[in-house]
Amino acid sequence: MALLKSRLLVGVARCQPCLAVVQGRASSWWSHVEMGPPDPILGVTEAFKRDTNPKKMNLGVGAYRDDNGKPYVLSSVRKAEAQLASKNLDKEYLPIGGLAEFARASAQLALGENCEAVKNGQFITVQTISGTGSLRIGANFLQRFYKYSRDVYLPKPSWGNHTPIFRDAGLEVKGYRYYDPKTCGFDFAGALDDLSKIPEQSIILFHACAHNPTGVDPKQEQWKELAALCKSRRLFPFFDMAYQGFASGDTDRDAWAVRHFIQEGINLVLSQSYAKNMGLYGERVGAFTVVCSDAEEAKRVESQIKILIRPMYSNPPLTGARIAASILTQPDLRKEWLQEVKGMANRIISMREQLVSNLKKEGSIHNWQHISDQIGMFCFTGLRPEQVEHLIKEFSIYMTKDGRISVAGVTSANNGYLAHAIHQVTK
Ligand SMILES: Cc1ncc(COP(=O)(O)O)c(C=O)c1O
Repeated sequence: MALLKSRLLVGVARCQPCLAVVQGRASSWWSHVEMGPPDPILGVTEAFKRDTNPKKMNLGVGAYRDDNGKPYVLSSVRKAEAQLASKNLDKEYLPIGGLAEFARASAQLALGENCEAVKNGQFITVQTISGTGSLRIGANFLQRFYKYSRDVYLPKPSWGNHTPIFRDAGLEVKGYRYYDPKTCGFDFAGALDDLSKIPEQSIILFHACAHNPTGVDPKQEQWKELAALCKSRRLFPFFDMAYQGFASGDTDRDAWAVRHFIQEGINLVLSQSYAKNMGLYGERVGAFTVVCSDAEEAKRVESQIKILIRPMYSNPPLTGARIAASILTQPDLRKEWLQEVKGMANRIISMREQLVSNLKKEGSIHNWQHISDQIGMFCFTGLRPEQVEHLIKEFSIYMTKDGRISVAGVTSANNGYLAHAIHQVTK
């Protein structure tokens, strides 16, 4: 300690500005940095943690919970982990684009076993740091190489992180009508109207399924019209598929829109995440795919995506991709996983139905049909900010101010309490 002190004093003698640093760190480099606002969702969790009410519910976080309200690790994941542990694998770096078997299996899961683009090598898929990392690689790729427009149109509303992801990558974020508060459903006419007026070749973001935060997805007939519009107006689709399997319980059905666009000859980009459908949240497993005109174009695109990734994080993490690849490529594990995905989706669907019926039992005269019509992890209840406030204060039921609830946080045991509380604040 004495030695350290004398060294510091020597340093001070040589260089005056350091004096303040040694005495109390007053000479800061960062005095101009303002406090940023807290993340709205993490803020909800913090308030929930402080609450001592035993009936409290956290419906803010988008992570699946089992019917006891506990985090859920899939049995297929546990088995894949055990297999991998028994193999004594090394921990060498992955290539820049990640684990090749994972990337291929991921593209097949999204685009389908019989996809011509996959069979002909007209695509490139890289492993990414979950869905967020994939979106960011995609946004940076478009910023650097999509020379036809700077504008990316997001559905209104969209997942809160979409705006900063695209904006920080240097693109201009705009919006198209999506959610209709009057029906708590899809504003199809509004979306078509907006997308037919925006400049041709604009980038347009679609949630492939289980739209976050609204839980409102276009129907297949509506997707067909959206694809036709994209084709005729040469809009460039960016699909974000963070919930494949989580909406309907069927991974093929949830990928229908992406596959339809490709069948229509539309070359698109796609982000995938295994956070929700494999429960690999913290492992950060995702993929980014570009569907190209031919295999040669795909090679060129791949080379540039690697050049983008290399100075960002060099190469992606190993363990989660190994787990996902094991599940996707071994028929037994894959079968088990698909059943588990169905189980998670079905539990959410049944919680929606129970909530609607419990609200009726409470005597609510409102139409809550949208709760069961919406799909995926989230439900846009239509509750107003002051009603949300009331739910938090009076009932310790936490959710984001926009009235979004994570249905995954509802259980058979607390469904009735939630219905009771919603009825109290809406009657
Ligand atoms: C629409 C949407 N896209 C992407 C993500 C990315 O999630 P992650 O980075 O955890 O895969 C999420 C997560 O909530 C999401 O809701």
